[in-house]
Amino acid sequence: MITGTAVSLIECAKTFADGTRALLPLSLEIEDGETVVFLGPSGCGKTTTLRIIAGLESPDPGGRVLFNGEDVTQVPIELRNVGMVFQSYALFPNMNVEQNVAYGLKVRKVSGAESSRRVREMLEMMDIVGLKDREIGQLSGGQRQRVALARAIAVQPRVLLLDEPLTALDALLRERLRVDIDALLRRLGITAIYVTHDQAEAMALGDRIVVMSHGKVAQIGTPRQIYFQPSNRFVADFIGTMNRVHGVISNGVVETAAGRIPWSKGGRGKSRYCFGRRT
Ligand SMILES: Nc1ncnc2c1ncn2[C@@H]1O[C@H](COP(=O)(O)OP(=O)(O)OP(=O)(O)O)[C@@H](O)[C@H]1O
Ligand SMILES: [Mg+2]
Repeated sequence: MITGTAVSLIECAKTFADGTRALLPLSLEIEDGETVVFLGPSGCGKTTTLRIIAGLESPDPGGRVLFNGEDVTQVPIELRNVGMVFQSYALFPNMNVEQNVAYGLKVRKVSGAESSRRVREMLEMMDIVGLKDREIGQLSGGQRQRVALARAIAVQPRVLLLDEPLTALDALLRERLRVDIDALLRRLGITAIYVTHDQAEAMALGDRIVVMSHGKVAQIGTPRQIYFQPSNRFVADFIGTMNRVHGVISNGVVETAAGRIPWSKGGRGKSRYCFGRRT
């Protein structure tokens, strides 16, 4: 079992050299062992946020990243001990499966016997022992992604970062590997940050979901909160099929063109929208 690390983002923003404001100031506490999913449409700043956590990108001045309370903002990626899995696998084509999984251990000078033991354990965990001598070019997409996961976890990272790891796979394989990743994250108890634009994936994997839009957080909550209580129209539309009822909330009812609907949430004062899940 890998012990996790709490991750804090404090006022992390990102403005690129060309003036693009990819991320507006974001503060977020991710608990040890938690799986947080960043969900949102293309270009909303998901990868940028992940890269800031990894140390591949610096936040704008004033932004800070903490691992277990320790400021790592200036610590380079190779010293942050994060594991990364990308959409494009990013495996080494000149190495076989076993060598790919062992790579990070070799770099960290983990001894031969210990390295062999950990590689074996990873191959077993990802159910790819039989593929250990295969070249990367001889693997299917799903198998490559398993190798990428095994390679990322073999080094026992403090935090596992996954950027749309299933996007390149067909629907059936996506579903299967999603279930496997879910089980793996729960078993390892590792802190994981998972980026996707697929709401079903986010719902299934996240302890909490951060819905993003144009570099801003639209809502942070558990899958249930996001699904049943979307806090604005963008989240409601992005999360899925809804009946949207326009009306005015007052005194515990929503006045709509079609009549009055009881409003149980209360305490929010007057609001122009309410959201109801289709039954
Ligand atoms: N190096 C860069 N220079 C300038 N702008 C950039 C750079 N990298 C990203 N951006 C811009 O920042 C914004 C956020 O990009 P980001 O890659 O974080 O989006 P994303 O949410 O991961 O999108 P996708 O789902 O397509 O991967 C986009 O408008 C993008 O064009
Ligand atoms: Mg991205």
